[in-house]
Amino acid sequence: MVKICCIGAGYVGGPTMAVIALKCPEIEVAVVDISVSRITAWNSDVLPIYEPGLDEVVKKCRGENLFFSTDVEKHVSEADIVFVSVNTPTKTQGLGAGKAADLTYWESAARMIADVSKSDKIVVEKSTVPVKTAEAIEKILNHNSKGIDFQILSNPEFLAEGTAIQDLFNPDRVLIGGRETPGGQKAIEALRDVYAHWVPVDRIICTNLWSAELSKLAANAFLAQRISSVNAMSALCEATGADVSQVSHAVGKDTRIGPKFLNASVGFGGSCFQKDILNLVYICECNGLPEVANYWKQVIKINDYQKTRFVNRIVSSMFNTVSGKKIAILGFAFKKDTGDTRETPAIDVCKGLLGDKARLSIYDPQVNEEQIQRDLAMNKFDWDHPVHLQPMSPTSIKQVNVVWDAYAATKDAHGVCILTEWDEFKTLDYQRIYDNMRKPAFIFDGRNVVDEAKLRAIGFIVYSIGKPLDQWLKDLPAVA
Ligand code: NAI
Repeated sequence: MVKICCIGAGYVGGPTMAVIALKCPEIEVAVVDISVSRITAWNSDVLPIYEPGLDEVVKKCRGENLFFSTDVEKHVSEADIVFVSVNTPTKTQGLGAGKAADLTYWESAARMIADVSKSDKIVVEKSTVPVKTAEAIEKILNHNSKGIDFQILSNPEFLAEGTAIQDLFNPDRVLIGGRETPGGQKAIEALRDVYAHWVPVDRIICTNLWSAELSKLAANAFLAQRISSVNAMSALCEATGADVSQVSHAVGKDTRIGPKFLNASVGFGGSCFQKDILNLVYICECNGLPEVANYWKQVIKINDYQKTRFVNRIVSSMFNTVSGKKIAILGFAFKKDTGDTRETPAIDVCKGLLGDKARLSIYDPQVNEEQIQRDLAMNKFDWDHPVHLQPMSPTSIKQVNVVWDAYAATKDAHGVCILTEWDEFKTLDYQRIYDNMRKPAFIFDGRNVVDEAKLRAIGFIVYSIGKPLDQWLKDLPAVA
């Protein structure tokens, strides 16, 4: 029986391994982690991450051929294929601080694999890593190998949170990079055989190691670039009276461009885009390519600009001050159908409003108070470490109140901000919300989910990103 072990039971390791276990009943899959609380949750009825369809997959396989354990060394030593899906945070100190990937967790996983291995292994990079990481990992493994053969493969994960199970069942492609040696090719085949249980072979792309590593960074940079491009257009739409939805519809109809990922919003978030682009920028700088680095850096700058612009709109609309005013925040996760708040634009928007002394009442269907307080207290980039190693500020923010209902959040509020595109925000009883708010009642829609005409008919002053401005906002001086 082939044995697979995955180091790192997170958003990637958990769902990916659950699907491999489901699709390959003859393979035994163990997912291991140094975080005891994460493993306990994976073995309980309340899984540590929310992902549509995940519960069913885990329930079918757990205890059969899928196991979650903290006994990292035992499972690694028994495995034929070891996936590594640990955190790769952005460095906050030292060389490359603020850009380079911190490979501490990766390196410690590689050293541990070398220490405990007694048989040949295929080691698979599942985490997103800088180009040429495989070379460093190879050196660590081979210098400590005691004669054991390690083959390194790059198999970056392209799943998107919120649709992870669907993406894993039916991927656009699976990418496997390996050494162009007989040993490397044999390892590629072994991993291809795993995916071939359910993925059509023409969707399994095999490349050299560096192409696979770089393709993941490139794919995320291209995706984020689309969002920053349409967000840059949204600012121009507001200035000219064009409607960004109409513009993106017209642009996306061009088959060379395509319609996806062209929704204007308050900005992109999630654990990957910013981190991976910063990493790409750093790699370009290190390779003496400052122009290329600056090109990609601009994608992040526009994202930051979009969040600042949104906060400025709110403050200037509300008579240039939100001090002491109650603002309802609807949605905190970085997108719908996930409880993940890593790098969510809501953090910067909330911090911006708190900086202007607003009182916030926050509601998200999947994010609890503890998480929100952690996020608002945490320093930039600190979130990307195993939970038990995250530095924590002991004080919670008093001006922030977290509630479990959109109506409670908006009661007596001066303004409402929609920051996540949860479906339920489309069908709220906005008349009821309006009746219970202070007047004038403002709605700032950071995801373009509401019907502005209907809301204006109720009496709201509405701001939607990239849409023709309400007369109220038009009369205000332009915001930076
Ligand atoms: P995560 O933070 O949810 O999971 C990482 C896990 O690794 C944590 O549970 C941590 O406790 C564990 N860990 C760290 N060091 C360990 C060690 N030495 N031994 C055992 N366990 C250890 O992170 P996530 O989101 O799963 O991401 C993992 C990697 O996959 C990152 O490189 C990320 O960039 C990449 N990725 C993430 C995607 C996403 O949508 N979240 C999509 C594609 C790739």
